Amino acid sequence: MTATSADVVRRAMAEAVELACRARFRVEPNPLVGAVVLATDGTVVGRGFHARWGGPHAEVAALHDAGERARGGTLVVTLEPCAHTGKKTPPCVPAVLESGVSRVVAGALDPNPATRGLAAAAFAAAGVAFEVGVGQDACAPLVARHARHLGADVPWTIAKWAMSADGRIADSGGHSRWITDAPARDVVHEIRATVDAVVVGRGTVAADDPLLTCRLPGRTASPLRVVLDTDLRTPPEARVVATSRETATLIMCAERADAFRRAQIEERGAEVVELPRGPGGRVKLAAAFRELHRRGVHRALLEAGSVLTGACLRAGYVRQVAVFVAPVVIGGSGPTPFDGGGWPLLDAPRLQEPRATAAGTDALLEGYWPRSAPTV
Ligand SMILES: NC(=O)c1ccc[n+]([C@@H]2O[C@H](COP(=O)([O-])OP(=O)(O)OC[C@H]3O[C@@H](n4cnc5c(N)ncnc54)[C@H](OP(=O)(O)O)[C@@H]3O)[C@@H](O)[C@H]2O)c1
Repeated sequence: MTATSADVVRRAMAEAVELACRARFRVEPNPLVGAVVLATDGTVVGRGFHARWGGPHAEVAALHDAGERARGGTLVVTLEPCAHTGKKTPPCVPAVLESGVSRVVAGALDPNPATRGLAAAAFAAAGVAFEVGVGQDACAPLVARHARHLGADVPWTIAKWAMSADGRIADSGGHSRWITDAPARDVVHEIRATVDAVVVGRGTVAADDPLLTCRLPGRTASPLRVVLDTDLRTPPEARVVATSRETATLIMCAERADAFRRAQIEERGAEVVELPRGPGGRVKLAAAFRELHRRGVHRALLEAGSVLTGACLRAGYVRQVAVFVAPVVIGGSGPTPFDGGGWPLLDAPRLQEPRATAAGTDALLEGYWPRSAPTV
């Protein structure tokens, strides 16, 4: 059997799809992409997938895995290799050409008009055979969410909360440390490592005084920390402000903020940006999310309490949810993940492609927030 056998290519594409799915919930709004490299005799010599937002693309990872064994072989990839410089990564087509493969098989065309179809011309010019559409039924859904998010002027936002088995995010006294155990908190740090910004409301800073940094062994950089604080009531001593020279902090407040408080916060290195007020008199969410996007925040993690999480869910800014459920029962009158009105069960938003995994003795439930969910 040779690499040109249709069966071998189909099997490689099925494996590439499986590889792509391993990054679900960690790379969006980028597409899920997997790749397999076949040597000239049809054996698999390289595997890769787009594992993290901002990380190497699948074909580059697979070609790196294959090394010299890629020469003359076939690259099987779920998505047409990109020919343009993305938000975080260089184009893949030059790396594919450099690898020496003689054939590229892609599952789907790139929905991004900036690169769609460009690979074909580049491969043709270099004498590399190129075909698209093998395994298309399995490959197209891997790019569907990416395609819908193209052109968005707000970040892909993940709402994360940790709750007790009876659905409380804090006890009656407002204490939430710690509902979950250390392994779940490690996963939170791993998720923070995949985003450009972590967003909370003033209430969370007041209650928990969190650092909101990404504390993983060997990792020094953290995402931008963002606090929505309408009247600039966050104390300058709050850790998220006091440590702004080590990790950037942005406080989003409403127009005509208290100049003295602003100066105190800025003195500690945090940035303050004034935005219009929304309908409830608070920082306007549309302005806040657009401002984040304008600053290069394409993937954000909302780690707020029930007030801001509820406002964002109802206004339709959340694309993905990560819920940690701990085997503890709190009872009392503590807050639930989001306040305000809900939905009748029959109309209630149901997470799409839900996945439950264990994080130590806690459970992590993840899923995409349905775009059809009603907004305010
Ligand atoms: N278990 C968990 O996962 C978890 C996570 C976070 C917090 N918590 C707990 O939740 C409690 C704090 O809850 P919280 O709801 O007060 O925190 P929050 O949602 O982080 O902050 C809410 C505050 O954000 C400000 N805000 C600014 N613009 C807003 C807008 N457009 N919409 C909504 N809010 C806006 C508002 O205060 P201003 O208008 O005054 O600015 C609002 O009161 C604490 O007990 C904390 O321990 C638990």
